[in-house]
Amino acid sequence: MIDHTIDSNEAAGLAHRADTAAHHRAEPPVLTLKGLRQTFKTPRGDVPAVAGVDLEVRPGQVLCLVGESGCGKTTTARMAAALTEPTAGSVLFRGKDVAEMDRTERAAFRRSVQYIHQDPYASLNPVRTVYSTVSAGLRRHKLVASHAEARRVTTELLERVDLVPAEDHLDKYPHQMSGGQRQRVAIARALAMNPEVIIADESTSMLDVSIRVSLLNTLGRLRDELGVGFLFITHDLAVAKYFAWQGEIAVMYLGKVVERGTAPRVINDPRHPYTKALISAVCEPDPDLVRKERVRLRGADIPDLTDLPSGCDFHPRCPLYEEGDCDSVRPPLVRGHDRLLACHVATRR
Ligand SMILES: Nc1ncnc2c1ncn2[C@@H]1O[C@H](COP(=O)(O)OP(=O)(O)O)[C@@H](O)[C@H]1O
Ligand SMILES: [Mg+2]
Repeated sequence: MIDHTIDSNEAAGLAHRADTAAHHRAEPPVLTLKGLRQTFKTPRGDVPAVAGVDLEVRPGQVLCLVGESGCGKTTTARMAAALTEPTAGSVLFRGKDVAEMDRTERAAFRRSVQYIHQDPYASLNPVRTVYSTVSAGLRRHKLVASHAEARRVTTELLERVDLVPAEDHLDKYPHQMSGGQRQRVAIARALAMNPEVIIADESTSMLDVSIRVSLLNTLGRLRDELGVGFLFITHDLAVAKYFAWQGEIAVMYLGKVVERGTAPRVINDPRHPYTKALISAVCEPDPDLVRKERVRLRGADIPDLTDLPSGCDFHPRCPLYEEGDCDSVRPPLVRGHDRLLACHVATRR
């Protein structure tokens, strides 16, 4: 009898969550990246670090950006958070172009879209205590009425990010904490602004494995509890799989998205040869990710951004390479196989 009750409650809960997820998918995006480009001028020549990226983050949904180091993830994230201006394209928040916002709107945007830096050492002020760091925004935006309230809210925020007992951490300085604890402080500071979108750029990649797992668990709980949208960035497909399973994955190569779809599709049935190569290179003991069939690349070297090949950027390394379009026409990102795909050959198969 009791078992039955629990089961039906659970089923109702799951159905509710599925409804909510479906509902969220239909909602308009909270953050839209439209034709985003960033070209850095360097003595070596122009570096097209981000070369036309279109993405949407929907309320309560996870969009995970995956790709090797140097493919343009951080540059994309910094533009999405309006920390750098794009060379071309735009960032829209609730449909409004960030470049056209007035001061009040921009301040609201800055609160609503929180960026969590890869390196908590670099993002925390070494002379501020945890309390001072986490409560700074609360005090600045007058979200707390008194010192006592600021302490109380900060304590709650630390508990939210599993930095417990919170009282033991309030008056610590960054150097008195571990890398994982510092990253939790950075997350608490972001949560203090009650954001609608969190941009987490390799938030766990600088941490040791056991600490990484524990921090991922905290982030996963926050993802489920808070209903905020996540632009979650990682070079690690196992982390992407864990965090974005209910959401979408976009795979980046040399400044462009080459494949994008729901996480189970992209992970279990990758179609772009670059995604296949990434998955085949994963060493985690994960049966979904480790495939018996190894993808053999034609070339190992990633082309230089200042000297990109003609046609498809991936063609010099691509196992599906065919003479014709591959080395002369840049493949557009088009719908195919229940996802978006930029490959002349894979879209035909
Ligand atoms: N300020 C800059 N000036 C010149 N090149 C840059 C600058 N920032 C990043 N890059 C280059 O842009 C490319 C993308 O960098 P980044 O966005 O940091 O990639 P990821 O986060 O995926 O590792 C890299 O080739 C990097 O060297
Ligand atoms: Mg980066």
